[in-house]
Amino acid sequence: TAEGPFINPLRIPPTSTTHHLTIQAGTAQMKPGNPTPIVGFDGIFPGPTLVAEKGKTMSVTQTNAWSENVTIHNHGHKVAAESDGHPVEYIAPNSSKVYTYPNDQRAGTYWYHDHTMDLTGAHVYNGLAGFYIIHDPAEDALKLPSGEYDIPLLLQDKQFDADNNLVYVGQANGFFGDTPVVNGVANAVHGVANRKYRFRLLNGSDIRLWNLQLRAGTTPQSFQVIASDGGLLQAPVSTTSLSIAPGERYDIVVDFAPYAVGTVLSLFNTDATPPAIGTLMQFTVDRSEMDTSTVPNALSTITRYTEAESTGSDNIAFTFANGSWLMNGLTYDPARIDVTNPLDAVRIWTLTNNSAFAHPFHKHLVQFNVLDVNGQPPAAQDMGFKDTVQVPPNGGTVRIIFKNEGFTGTYVFHCHKLGHEDHRMMLQESVTPSSE
Ligand code: C2O
Ligand code: CU
Repeated sequence: TAEGPFINPLRIPPTSTTHHLTIQAGTAQMKPGNPTPIVGFDGIFPGPTLVAEKGKTMSVTQTNAWSENVTIHNHGHKVAAESDGHPVEYIAPNSSKVYTYPNDQRAGTYWYHDHTMDLTGAHVYNGLAGFYIIHDPAEDALKLPSGEYDIPLLLQDKQFDADNNLVYVGQANGFFGDTPVVNGVANAVHGVANRKYRFRLLNGSDIRLWNLQLRAGTTPQSFQVIASDGGLLQAPVSTTSLSIAPGERYDIVVDFAPYAVGTVLSLFNTDATPPAIGTLMQFTVDRSEMDTSTVPNALSTITRYTEAESTGSDNIAFTFANGSWLMNGLTYDPARIDVTNPLDAVRIWTLTNNSAFAHPFHKHLVQFNVLDVNGQPPAAQDMGFKDTVQVPPNGGTVRIIFKNEGFTGTYVFHCHKLGHEDHRMMLQESVTPSSE
């Protein structure tokens, strides 16, 4: 593996002020030596962070100044179908498209990325991904760590050739890189004060799952999970480990107060899938500072959907056969509707994984609640709202419950291992007007 030493300063993506992004080739200094060619929003990687206020519509103009078709999805957003970045609604080279984001949803950590049919993995790997953060006054009032103490971390594995060019080999089982890259920096380090920080973790890998720990030496330290895909949890969850699959987000708070200046902590991955990556990045406590931030016990109100409200259900089975990843025996066909659900109806989907690999299942349009995993209640950090959920292998089941709201039209759902998605492990849902 090409892990460490952790000496390259972490970068924090700039915030977009214009909301007009240009998709273009560029370079990023990912590691010492040659800058790495990328394709990025405004030619940078990660793309500029889009920052929105709940309830205030934001229009984002995407201009495609690259040579290939793209389509941009805002992951986790409740948007009209024409703004959802459907896999074949391309922005052709030398054209632009305006995407409208109502932000009529919970504050939280979302992300925008390319969603081109068959090519999402390659496009995201080469740089087409950025954060989209929604704030709201209720969250601001909590006095969680904010400003420079609120840091998005895009966690990825990549592979470089001797000239620092990215290597990507798309294949049915997906791509594993050998180098940890956080916010576009290989083997990154970030200096922190001895106080609380909020880290917005996003797994933007092709197919790699991270089983995270925060380690001092080899000893796992505790931290608090405060949010999942769809924003704040009801209450913080203290833990020493956290599993995050491609597409998922968790916000955590790490309190560096117990550590002496000079302490080095590692964000460590215990999943040993080869080529194994242990340490993803490091934090060095390099100064003392006052801390007036808090992590209250009551973070938000979560009103979960209940089974009693449900008016119907669907089954989605995952299999691997004849070299293809399948959902309900099918691969994606953009001309075919696979599931039809009415607007404003509470539905349950039972996801069954009859393959030997975990699949992170992602549904567009709305956030869902996880009812159960293998018949058991979900982990505490999965009791809030999510748009991506890991479905365990070898007969594993997850039941999700949701209500399609806001818009009718065609929305995809798929495995968020991008190598699987690109081999068409994806179907689509028609959301139809409600019958009343
Ligand atoms: Cu993050 Cu349909 O994708
Ligand atoms: Cu999959």
